[in-house]
Amino acid sequence: MRVNAHVACSRRSQCPASAGPASRSPELPSIVCAYRARISAGFYTVCMVALDSASTDALSPGFLRDVRTFLDEAFAGAFTDDDWAHAQGGMHVWLVGSRGLISHGSLVERTLICSNHTMRVGYVEAVATAAAHRRKGYGTIIMKRLGELIRARYQLGVLSTGAHSFYESLGWEQWPGPTFVNGPCGHERTPEDDGGIMILRTPRSPLLDVTGDIVCDWRLGDVW
Ligand SMILES: CC(C)(COP(=O)(O)OP(=O)(O)OC[C@H]1O[C@@H](n2cnc3c(N)ncnc32)[C@H](O)[C@@H]1OP(=O)(O)O)[C@@H](O)C(=O)NCCC(=O)NCCS
Repeated sequence: MRVNAHVACSRRSQCPASAGPASRSPELPSIVCAYRARISAGFYTVCMVALDSASTDALSPGFLRDVRTFLDEAFAGAFTDDDWAHAQGGMHVWLVGSRGLISHGSLVERTLICSNHTMRVGYVEAVATAAAHRRKGYGTIIMKRLGELIRARYQLGVLSTGAHSFYESLGWEQWPGPTFVNGPCGHERTPEDDGGIMILRTPRSPLLDVTGDIVCDWRLGDVW
């Protein structure tokens, strides 16, 4: 097992690595934890990191700039202004250490038609871990927290990826059926996205035929 459950937890004020948003809602406290992170095969260290979450509108402009810079670096220049717009307007979950952001993911609400069921889904965006911290289990921590939020708020989780095995181990399933966007002229095929869509079922998910059509709502930039 690469990353343990928490071995110690305390409130944010006790942690030196507490850089973060200017304001937040009180029901979303940050949690400072010691995680057991893998250094190399068979060797582990205990890292003090803070797992935190807040809605975009609770985050300061300065912190949002830090998140954007972090994503630009983590995606090696492939993160566009449209990608940044897609990552905002919902919840952000992040891990921060003594030297800044370690990992991040966003959850935004979208309306999708999944095998004829129209649903408000929790759509995951902007998942990234800093290059120096990859394969230590931090992305898994972010995705587990996003999964909890999806189960609490939505009927279904959806995302688009090329890194299927990362998400499969966390309960996400590939949607093998054809993909569409509900565009200005009706449902249009998005064949380049076929096979890249994954879903996370929740106890409130209807029975879904994953060989059926999946249709996303329209947006600028990459629609999936
Ligand atoms: C994908 C990414 C977020 C994973 O973050 P991470 O912190 O390294 O993930 P974890 O350490 O929790 O990985 C857990 C497991 O997922 C799998 N995994 C990790 N990265 C993967 C990748 N890029 N592709 C496929 N599987 C991956 C591995 O099985 C890993 O376990 P292992 O290290 O024991 O082999 C990170 O590689 C990243 O930021 N990539 C660049 C941005 C990106 O592509 N984001 C995803 C967009 S959909």
